[in-house]
Amino acid sequence: MSAFLDACRARPTAYTPIWIMRQAGRYLPEYRKLRSQVDFVKLTRTPELAAEATLQPLRRFELDAGILFSDIMTPLQGMGIALEFDPGPIVRDPIRSDAQIDALPALLPERDVPFVLEAVRLVRANAPRGVPLIGFAGAPFTLFCYLVCGRPSKEFAAARAFLYAHAESSERLLTHLADAMAAYLRAQAEAGAQALMLFESWAGLLALKEFRRFALPAVQRTVAGLRDLGIPIIYYANQGSALMQAVAELDVDVVGVDWRSPLGATRKILGASKAIQGNLDPAALFAAPQELRVQVDAVLADAGSAPGHIFNLGHGIWPDTDPDAVARLIDYVHECTTRE
Ligand code: CP3
Repeated sequence: MSAFLDACRARPTAYTPIWIMRQAGRYLPEYRKLRSQVDFVKLTRTPELAAEATLQPLRRFELDAGILFSDIMTPLQGMGIALEFDPGPIVRDPIRSDAQIDALPALLPERDVPFVLEAVRLVRANAPRGVPLIGFAGAPFTLFCYLVCGRPSKEFAAARAFLYAHAESSERLLTHLADAMAAYLRAQAEAGAQALMLFESWAGLLALKEFRRFALPAVQRTVAGLRDLGIPIIYYANQGSALMQAVAELDVDVVGVDWRSPLGATRKILGASKAIQGNLDPAALFAAPQELRVQVDAVLADAGSAPGHIFNLGHGIWPDTDPDAVARLIDYVHECTTRE
């Protein structure tokens, strides 16, 4: 029995489940301690350490789901793409030619990222309270942004220009990434992940037309390759409020939304069969305790009383957030949504 897994299927739950994007990370003193001893890449490639970072927030808080400690770029690194984290991902040779696209190998998870699969098994064996584990990957278009641009950016100009200048090459790269991420997520599920999430962190860069042409078919290809697993699939569309009519067509169970997209209006567009995840502004964790409750009440009211709401932030938690504010948030969501 898991409130999180039931809510993913838009089934009624005893209370509204909550987990927090980027919950395993730098706002936690115990993570910073671990990180002061080992660099980020080593953390992601050492199963015991990745499992430890995944479990840290689950021990400290009454979270309803865990998310594997890893990065969206980790499988690409496993495929042989040279990259570093500083702190965001920097790709040594950005992909800008057909020759580079054709040279990309397929991802064979057991060969290329065995440490991720081992971390999944370790988390499953040690998760407190039987908390379910979410496996994840970057959605193809978001990975495309990093691969073509080569580094984090506000505009990802090189990546967006590539879509227009080389539309067919773009589609080939997106298809390759879609297949690689399907293989990657399938392997995580087979190792024990109980839900799968695709992060489309850069959805908001695209107009509806380009989203439909490039991002949507690629992520649908990934999702189609996973449906037979029978576990919930979550698609997080950051800054995607203008895209929801297209997102509604995607065969996923849950749509994650950022804090700018009103939950009630988004649910109307998505329909009752999809659950929704979100969307407290990460900045709201800096409010005084009483004001934080007011902000949480507003998110819950907007989500409405129909089943299928997973409480979360609208994007990743900020590194300077007070862990005690997180504890207050989780307790309050549980307390005020408990249904007799
Ligand atoms: O707790 C969790 O959510 C699990 C771990 C996780 C990380 N990255 C660890 C990480 C997850 C789910 C991600 C996903 C990720 N990575 C996304 C999608 C989610 C989102 O925020 O939109 C994106 C776009 C990336 C790419 C990335 N990796 C960036 C931009 C950065 C640097 C800035 C930042 O947000 O931290 C990273 C590095 C990274 N990934 C760190 C962590 C804990 C910081 C590394 C460090 O400890 O120095």
